[in-house]
Amino acid sequence: MPRSLEPMGVAADGRLGESKSTSASANREWSTGTRFEPVDVERRFEPPRGKIHPDRTLGWIRRMLPIVAAHKWVFVPTLVLALIANLLQVLLPAVIRSGIDQALTDRTASLNRFVVMVLVIGVLRSLLTLVYRYGLYKTAFQIDSDLRNRLYEHLSELSFDFYDRMQSGQVISRANSDIRSVQMFLTFAPLISMTVVMFSVAFTFMLTIHVPLTLVAILPLPGVYWLGVRLRNELFPLSWIVQGRLADVATTVDENINGVRVVRSFAAERQQINQLAKAATSLRWASVRTVDTRARHNPLIENLPRLGTLLVLVYGGWLVIDEQVTEGTLFAFTAYVTLLQAPFRTLGMVLMLGQRAKASAERIFEILDTEPSVADRPDAADLADIDGAIEFDDVVFAYGNGSDRADVLDRFSLRIEPGESVALVGRTGCGKSTVVRLLARFYDVDQGAIRVDGHDVRDVTAASLRAHIGMVTDEPFLFSTSLADNIAYARPGAERGAVVAAAVEAQADEFIAQLPDGYDTVVGERGYTLSGGQRQRVAIARTLLTDPRILVLDDATSAIDVHVEERIHAALTERAAQWTMIVIAHRLSTIALADRVVLMEDGRVAATGTHRELMANEPRYAEVLAHLDDGGAA
Ligand SMILES: Nc1ncnc2c1ncn2[C@@H]1O[C@H](COP(=O)(O)OP(=O)(O)OP(=O)(O)O)[C@@H](O)[C@H]1O
Ligand SMILES: [Mg+2]
Repeated sequence: MPRSLEPMGVAADGRLGESKSTSASANREWSTGTRFEPVDVERRFEPPRGKIHPDRTLGWIRRMLPIVAAHKWVFVPTLVLALIANLLQVLLPAVIRSGIDQALTDRTASLNRFVVMVLVIGVLRSLLTLVYRYGLYKTAFQIDSDLRNRLYEHLSELSFDFYDRMQSGQVISRANSDIRSVQMFLTFAPLISMTVVMFSVAFTFMLTIHVPLTLVAILPLPGVYWLGVRLRNELFPLSWIVQGRLADVATTVDENINGVRVVRSFAAERQQINQLAKAATSLRWASVRTVDTRARHNPLIENLPRLGTLLVLVYGGWLVIDEQVTEGTLFAFTAYVTLLQAPFRTLGMVLMLGQRAKASAERIFEILDTEPSVADRPDAADLADIDGAIEFDDVVFAYGNGSDRADVLDRFSLRIEPGESVALVGRTGCGKSTVVRLLARFYDVDQGAIRVDGHDVRDVTAASLRAHIGMVTDEPFLFSTSLADNIAYARPGAERGAVVAAAVEAQADEFIAQLPDGYDTVVGERGYTLSGGQRQRVAIARTLLTDPRILVLDDATSAIDVHVEERIHAALTERAAQWTMIVIAHRLSTIALADRVVLMEDGRVAATGTHRELMANEPRYAEVLAHLDDGGAA
């Protein structure tokens, strides 16, 4: 059957009845500028606005700056409003001072004027605070969401070797707590630094009134600062410990829930509960220590300003009696004593947030700076129509990039004709799955080349290449949605008829039809409400629906019983001419179906021929098969 895969869309295949949206996109004009999207889905999210600065030698704030700068139209006015609100706060005691002196002491002005002024300043300040808080939180959440989207976008581009190395818990924790701590610092540090401006203005104002009284007023400030630093030095490590132990508890719970089948089958509940209790006890210890530290410092920190007020009252009161300053001045100074403490108290916090944000930013950069090891070349073309010829040309490959890597494939060469079906046979761990992963370019070869229809897979876009390859593995991952949505995963708009047709071919229709909700049955996490064989059949249907030109079954029927498997194979054989097929199987019945059998040994092709030929002439083949029959452990 001639097929045409239009770049930018998916072949509107009459048989499988493509959806409206995909056939519409198939008609769209294709220009080299647009990216090929095998799964044509409307983009619903707002793309992140800023990118981090690519220069790794810059400091972390400089590198993050473009992300903040993208929101400058909200952020800068917000900061200006915050500044004004802070200045109004400094103004207030000054106005009250004039009020007391002029209206109460000297009786030269009306008190009402000052009452109105205080009211206006108060209302204005409340309004400004309302607006700048809104702006501030809005910016904070936008930076948060931009960082998150940027990180996720990057994660979706990273190659499999990254995921082989990285623990998923690590990635998730980076996406959550690290982004949060960076976001908090970036948005709140400028705001807190505003209190420094407030301090300078108030301090200057006080100096112009009475220098000695000003010096007395700031006397406790070094103490406040010192206490803040001490508290931070004690709390900082503690908060890290709490974070780490929270993660431990979360991991234990997560493993208990995800691994519940293993736990129960070994009746190891007690052991797991003990483990959790241990983690919870450590967490409690760290949390109590945190509270204890706070409790010991807070009374002092909170009461030092009162000491300041006391000093000002004693010395200032004496000055008032001596008629060196007015009552109004005394009032203003007592008010400023509290205002002046703010920067000294928050400075410690900014420093702590800064340290934490720096560490978090570096962890985020570590991901963002990882280049995908498999990436499209800038001039990569889309692989449009293909016949399905595959060629492995002296392929050498090893996983990882350390020094201890051992070649998995060692000059592996194989040519598969369009429409041919080939069975890969070999001992466990000999590299069969690796061969098909390389074909789909999950990894790049170290030497040699893999060609599809004569095109090196590195010269075409990965998306267009993978759109032609339908791959089913033995451990299929199902999503927690309905069976219909799972089957239509790569064709979100596919009509029900097409979904059912694919399910019938994969022999999944019969068991799905028996479920109370049929195709609308929602499967549990990872499809665990289905049996292994049922999951595999759904996965086969999912792949058949994409109508691939190259079909790869990597142990895809290992959990399906022999009779059902035979029917699947019969259905697949009916369409055998439509695709080039690579089957990796451990059952003789499956192997025998292939036009040709390829025996792998030591990372290369040891022999090739029909099943009969190999049985007759190749003792190593018979030996491998004997092992397979030993219980299919291979
Ligand atoms: N992601 C990976 N990272 C590092 N090494 C890997 C990775 N995947 C496989 N290997 C190693 O590469 C070798 C070949 O693995 P592969 O999965 O290709 O074997 P296989 O022939 O498919 O085996 P099986 O029949 O058991 O599925 C094995 O020794 C394995 O340990
Ligand atoms: Mg395998």
